[in-house]
Amino acid sequence: MNIIENLKNNRNLSDSEFKEILETNQYDDLLVKEADKVRRGIYGDEVYIRGLIEFTNYCKNNCYYCGIRCGNTNAVRYRLDKDEILACCDEGYKLGFRTFVMQGGEDPHYTDKLICEIVSSIRERFSDCAITLSIGEKSKQSYKDYFNAGANRYLLRHETADNKHYSKLHPESMSLDVRKQCLYDLKEIGYQVGSGFMVGSPYQTTENLISDLRFLQELQPDMIGIGPYITHAETPFAAFKSGDLHLTLRLISILRLIFPYALIPSTTALGTIHPEGRELGLKAGANVVMPNLSPVSVRKLYALYENKICTGEEAAQCRGCLEKRVESAGYRIVTAVGNVKK
Ligand code: 5AD
Ligand code: FES
Repeated sequence: MNIIENLKNNRNLSDSEFKEILETNQYDDLLVKEADKVRRGIYGDEVYIRGLIEFTNYCKNNCYYCGIRCGNTNAVRYRLDKDEILACCDEGYKLGFRTFVMQGGEDPHYTDKLICEIVSSIRERFSDCAITLSIGEKSKQSYKDYFNAGANRYLLRHETADNKHYSKLHPESMSLDVRKQCLYDLKEIGYQVGSGFMVGSPYQTTENLISDLRFLQELQPDMIGIGPYITHAETPFAAFKSGDLHLTLRLISILRLIFPYALIPSTTALGTIHPEGRELGLKAGANVVMPNLSPVSVRKLYALYENKICTGEEAAQCRGCLEKRVESAGYRIVTAVGNVKK
């Protein structure tokens, strides 16, 4: 049996086998083929859409890779208030979105009380929708409060599962242990949890990527988001080059084979490094897309990295655009909450 069949059947490989398939392109066609087979076996041609509302680009953290880090004094900052966020949801609902993802920097302006108010207003108005939060590291009590207010999913990428690598990407005030604890807290509370990592971030090695896979195997998240690292001029990593398309696609396929049931987005970052990046991501095993519902006026400002797509006037309606793209790749957007199948 070949190595890819092994991966598919056992949902696992040894470290040295993972290293082998990560470091060559010779299995790529087979990986994509098998990942697509597995994905179609469970999810058919369905692609789930999540409406992304980037509600604040203020952030108290200073991650070295991120364009909205507090140290970037050139960033123009904005916040959306509750009514503006609800207006995004209204618009999204009409377009067929049944999951709203509230994503933002770690912004102390949004106290737990305010987050809970916003979440319960969305919950009240859209009882048939899933509410996803992506607002970083909080205490377990805070996570519980948001959950009780009506949030049911949480996205928090671990970024890298290697301690040394983590400390090269983040200031000393941040630690991988805290990050992991947050993820376990979220799971215990009952959230559907998403984690993930950047591909090709500065100093990343194949061994680091294997640690990422091992950590995800331990965490068993419902959602796994990965995308290429993309450089941003106003960060200490300005001189590093962006992550590789093919390595990202290879990892999406590997993740699909390890986690057949996972919800895996084809990310905006993937669409940014290649004009057909998101289509290729779907073909490689991804089954979620997360178009932007933020007001067009702020989209350029939520710049985690450079040249982000869907920020111009032409992108006022990502739903229509994505519909065509998803179909061209051979799949179909469905209007459903799109829970993970088990
Ligand atoms: N390139 C690619 N992805 C990035 N993120 C943050 N900065 C960058 C960048 N420069 C990702 C992180 C974060 C998610 C919201 O965006 O993985 O968790
Ligand atoms: Fe946003 Fe195409 S998905 S413009």
